[in-house]
Amino acid sequence: MKPNTLEPMIECILNPFISAEREAPDFASVEQVKAVKIFHQSLPGYVSTPLVKLSECAARLGIDALMVKDESQRFGLKAFKVLGASYAIAKEIQQQLGLDDEEINFDAIAAHSNALKSLTFVTATDGNHGRAVAWCAEQFGCKAVVFMPKGTSQFRLEAIRSHGARAEITELNYDETVLFSAQQAKKNAWVLLQDSSWEGYKTVPKHIMQGYFSLVSEFEDQTMAWPTHVLAQAGVGSFAASIFSYFLASPKPTPKLILVEPTGAACYFNSIHIGDGKPHLTKELNTMMAGLSCGQPSILAWDIIKSNCDVFVVCQDQVAIKGMQLLANPASNDAVVISGESGAVPVGLVDEVCTNQKYSLVKESLKFDSGSKILVFSTEGDTDPKVYKQLVKL
Ligand SMILES: Cc1ncc(COP(=O)(O)O)c(C=O)c1O
Repeated sequence: MKPNTLEPMIECILNPFISAEREAPDFASVEQVKAVKIFHQSLPGYVSTPLVKLSECAARLGIDALMVKDESQRFGLKAFKVLGASYAIAKEIQQQLGLDDEEINFDAIAAHSNALKSLTFVTATDGNHGRAVAWCAEQFGCKAVVFMPKGTSQFRLEAIRSHGARAEITELNYDETVLFSAQQAKKNAWVLLQDSSWEGYKTVPKHIMQGYFSLVSEFEDQTMAWPTHVLAQAGVGSFAASIFSYFLASPKPTPKLILVEPTGAACYFNSIHIGDGKPHLTKELNTMMAGLSCGQPSILAWDIIKSNCDVFVVCQDQVAIKGMQLLANPASNDAVVISGESGAVPVGLVDEVCTNQKYSLVKESLKFDSGSKILVFSTEGDTDPKVYKQLVKL
């Protein structure tokens, strides 16, 4: 796929719906964060992913700090998604087998291997979430079926199959593939493990969002620094809503919360622009950022983001490519971060806004200045190594 050249390259809207009394949803409590962390620590091969401080880059950009949580090494799966899928699968198993809360850990669940064999999880995915579901099913001894939208890369398909899942690329776009998976779940008595929510389907996506809390609790364990700005990229919005919820639940000052989307798949930005306070479908999707190529906001995420996000930003594909290149070839003392298209877009955005006079109004809206400590999440590594090599020109 060629990078799109949709104009403008970067655009932002201040959130007109922001609530005067911002607050975290009730599923984002200190106790929940702790329970999720204990569960993840019980998984085979669990380690915290690196927090990379790009000090030279921050100095060049005229900000105080640029901190990158690098998800390229998460369980060898190259993306953060497994944090959500694993917790939601464990909660689903807990419910089906009638386990206690204390049994939400890997060994206690694996002890029920006979019952687990008959459980099948199904999902729709651009790649990262599906690989996560397939990996979890493999670990727990369940089965996984994964449907992927048209245009998905063969490499991502094979990566999912490598975990023993049944996986296929459909003739449908992402949002249609989600519907198809939901129908297949009903027809075959499989468990739908989708990372988006809609009326009547909220429990699994809520658990997935809770699973993402571990990204930020690891961050807190890794540094005393507290961000002034947090940038989270959105597909259906579950990731960003989870990250924002964590910061809203913290007793520390709430950073500026910034949502980042591709110009060619901006379902939040477009919905805010429409202005009726409701989430709207963006039908035509046109972006290389496969993980963010979604047209329908998750309704659970929509409510959280609509009431709490400060600024909505859209970026052309070129911004993501710039981010990938900067992270792959950093200034001499900064560490390399391998980051895919969906992972690198916030870094490309920060760089462009701080260095290109054309975006001085965006910079003003984002309130980036010499005191800014910016936290971004490089949510994936080279999930398609061939594309990665082409784009960073290795
Ligand atoms: C690498 C990457 N980053 C970010 C996201 C966005 O997550 P969400 O769809 O929950 O907004 C995804 C989703 O698949 C992804 O794969």
